[in-house]
Amino acid sequence: MSDEIIVPKGLANVVVDSTSIATTGASGNLLYRGYRAVELAEKKTFEETAYLIVNGKLPDKEELSRFRNELFSNMKVSKEVLDIMKIIKEHDIMRNIRSMVSLYPYAKGNDQSLFTQMEAKLPLLSAYSASAFLGTPVKEPTGEGFSQKFFSLISNGNSKNWRSFEKLMILYLEHEFNASTFALRVSASTLTDPVSAVTSALATLKGPLHGGANSEVLTYLGSIENEADAKKFIEGKLERKEKIMGFGHRVYKKKDPRAQFVREELGRIAPKDPKYVAAEMVENYMFEKKGLPANVDLYAAVLMDYLGINEMFYLPVFACSRIFGWNAHYFEQLKDNKIIRPASSYSGPEERGL
Ligand code: COA
Repeated sequence: MSDEIIVPKGLANVVVDSTSIATTGASGNLLYRGYRAVELAEKKTFEETAYLIVNGKLPDKEELSRFRNELFSNMKVSKEVLDIMKIIKEHDIMRNIRSMVSLYPYAKGNDQSLFTQMEAKLPLLSAYSASAFLGTPVKEPTGEGFSQKFFSLISNGNSKNWRSFEKLMILYLEHEFNASTFALRVSASTLTDPVSAVTSALATLKGPLHGGANSEVLTYLGSIENEADAKKFIEGKLERKEKIMGFGHRVYKKKDPRAQFVREELGRIAPKDPKYVAAEMVENYMFEKKGLPANVDLYAAVLMDYLGINEMFYLPVFACSRIFGWNAHYFEQLKDNKIIRPASSYSGPEERGL
């Protein structure tokens, strides 16, 4: 075909559509609707920022109260759903929540209310699927805000640190055309329903090159006690041409502003934490050796570990936050929709007879 356009593998640097929700910005700062994500994390609550992402503006008092009420009144799961999770007894929580969302037996209502229901239930599905697997009783969420309630379900640590968790949740909210959001937009472009589109996104987020990176970080940090260990670990990985989780990014080639923010947060609350110290050593040597910056997942894993959150929840935490970004992208895609259907260049055999 003469009008074919050959694009780089992985669509690297290809602009496939426009978005007004977030940008990684010419300045290298991640902006949500024009505001710096790190500033929102410092000064706003999760609900205020999620409202901004979904609705395009920060809420006034009344809008915030309505948004919170809608979320909190949907924060429950039925006995039938709990029973299904007990039957499945799946140890991989991400697989479980993907399956539970796709089953969604109570998927009634308009598209926005379906998103609200999924957003409200995802933290419970995450916590309760762990209870179903471990055979422990389900807890009722406690606390004022969305992330504080979620924190109460999954943390065994000091509850006074919940704000650090909320900041991380804010930084995970949105990231323009990342792989899971793009998967969601491809699904939305076929005019499928929100539940199906979110199922595509959850399935895509799960991969180790995307959201799955954060749960692999702790394993190697636990084995690093000093600079010699850090060097040995990195050199071994690079020699074997293996990727080191928590490093590199398709967009941030010099620094990931979210990683630096979480690193500073840890420096403030846990400067002597052994995994934090190990992460800094690995980050410094990796930059010296390969010029690759840490991404948010390196320090997110250390922070969640410090906050007493089991590794099984790291990826679900990401999903419970990013679903608000998916919500905004679903409707943005529909506003000016054209089905996303690229072409391919064929590398199979020539036409032949049987
Ligand atoms: N460890 C070791 N080397 C890495 C690396 C990592 N984590 N990430 C990138 N590199 C290297 C590549 O091998 C390549 O080296 P080369 O030029 O010598 O061949 C170079 O850096 C460019 O990387 P590339 O794979 O082209 O980047 P990408 O934009 O296609 O991929 C990621 C981006 C995120 C998929 C990739 O950096 C990665 O796999 N990181 C680990 C997983 C991770 O932490 N994901 C979370 C992202 S928030």
